Amino acid sequence: MKTFVLTALFVTIAGLSGCDRSSQGFSLPQGNAELGEQVFVKYQCLRCHTMAGYEAEAETLSGALQTPVQLGGQVSRIRTYPELVTSVINPSHKLAEGYDGADIQVDGQSVMPNFNDVMTVTELVNLVYFLEDHYELEPYPRTDYVSPH
Ligand code: HEC
Repeated sequence: MKTFVLTALFVTIAGLSGCDRSSQGFSLPQGNAELGEQVFVKYQCLRCHTMAGYEAEAETLSGALQTPVQLGGQVSRIRTYPELVTSVINPSHKLAEGYDGADIQVDGQSVMPNFNDVMTVTELVNLVYFLEDHYELEPYPRTDYVSPH
């Protein structure tokens, strides 16, 4: 049943490009960031990920990756929640950019575990809400014009 719901959710997302919190018919109920943080800890996301403010927690887990994949922080393009849901329920859909391919995938499949049969939809909603709060858009890089002499 859970798997079915997640599959249906994924099929919905797959057809979307996504722009804001309620983009194109894909609308999650309001999540709870505190509960989302508990989900983040429960499933040990920090085994393979870093996130500002969670350095101490990460250290208590044995790192599974040589170069952990950063979550949150400043990004050049904001992660929409359909994208974050996709990253969690279908990690191989689009592999993270800027990482050594050998570390993050095997034969095009993400090494990120699949939580779809254990994570409830409520946990997913809260997790994504929590994650979304940790992204920040990079300031636009202005052209550094050389002043004429
Ligand atoms: C065993 C290691 C491992 C664990 C545990 C893990 N991940 Fe990942 N995750 C990865 C790898 C490797 C990538 C990069 C490849 C990819 O994009 O799937 C990734 C990518 C992601 C991305 C996309 C990042 C980007 O910038 O594109 C998100 C979001 C994410 N993970 C969230 C989570 C969450 C939330 C959890 C816990 C529920 C989790 N991961 C647990 C290995 C892991």
